[in-house]
Amino acid sequence: MSRVITLLPGDGIGPEVTGATVRVLEAAGFSADWENHTAGAEAVAKGDEPLPQRVLDSIGRTKVCLKGPVTTPVGKGFRSVNVQLRQALELYANLRPARTIPGLPGRFEDVNLVIVRENTEGLYSGIEHQVIPGVVESLKIITEKASTRVSRFAFEYARANGRKRITAVHKANIMKLSDGLFLECFQKVAEEYPDIEADDRIIDAMCMQLVVRPETFDMLLLENLYGDIVSDLAAGLVGGLGVVPGANIGENEAVFEAVHGSAPDIAGQGVANPLALMRSALLMLHHVGESAIARRLSAAIRMVIVDDKVLTRDLGGKASTHELTEAIVRALDKVGDDPTGQI
Ligand code: NAI
Repeated sequence: MSRVITLLPGDGIGPEVTGATVRVLEAAGFSADWENHTAGAEAVAKGDEPLPQRVLDSIGRTKVCLKGPVTTPVGKGFRSVNVQLRQALELYANLRPARTIPGLPGRFEDVNLVIVRENTEGLYSGIEHQVIPGVVESLKIITEKASTRVSRFAFEYARANGRKRITAVHKANIMKLSDGLFLECFQKVAEEYPDIEADDRIIDAMCMQLVVRPETFDMLLLENLYGDIVSDLAAGLVGGLGVVPGANIGENEAVFEAVHGSAPDIAGQGVANPLALMRSALLMLHHVGESAIARRLSAAIRMVIVDDKVLTRDLGGKASTHELTEAIVRALDKVGDDPTGQI
């Protein structure tokens, strides 16, 4: 019986990069029935809800979703589909590896970070109101439950993936109660994992250290807003938004998507870099137990960017989305299993 996966192509460059990703997945021998759905600006344009219930029902059934970016209006309009999706399905851990790939432009040679971001609360709880005209309040919610479960996720991930150290990132010197609770939960969970080193940094100092010597860090654990910002910073250390993958993981469901957005400035031009979503799909393959296919696809991607130097415009090359995709499809015939399985 074929595996069913929910596919959300999304907005802007979303359909271009999801099409390219499905193409390489199928060429690599991954067989799935894709349940295609619309959400976000495209759904609204069709008179639908931004996040239709049938999308949540589909992911509830299939348990796995491959998702393109979805446009969110700034300062007005509908609430972020991404935030709604993560909260509705309790996709509490956002996993964002950022690793140097030889051959890609970047100032550092050996960055190998895994960022875990709490995905359901913090300042993204969406609880905002106007107190009086000219004064608004936005609530930051931090709970023991969410802080503990995301900490445990990070330590379990570290153990399963040979990681040695987790640094919790916070501002507990100023937000003593909220960030203080996040840090306390992290430290409590850390006691259960004596084999993994656990330390912490204040967010502003962390940002400085990350742009000076990112290679000294292993895994970072952050609450929602800090994780959002720092993972984009980390993307910039390893080649940019066009290459970094992501996964949103809950108890029962998981949604795999790139860190980048719908890039309206280049949408429809055929120049978007599909590598970030393809590498998110590698995380998906490991998640569904298809690690051999993941390693082969990973090796093909490396061959194309490192040896053949087929790069899209954001990486200083000239290749279109289609040319890069077809180069990866051809490389699949030449590579074997990549024993390192790097993502
Ligand atoms: P963005 O990530 O879409 O674009 C930032 C810059 O990076 C742009 O210059 C864009 O051309 C470039 N870029 C991004 N991805 C690229 C790729 N794959 N290949 C080549 N260049 C790429 O961020 P922006 O402009 O702030 O957001 C646009 C929309 O995306 C907004 O509506 C935002 O809310 C939404 N968004 C959605 C996300 C999601 O669905 N997970 C995540 C982030 C933003």
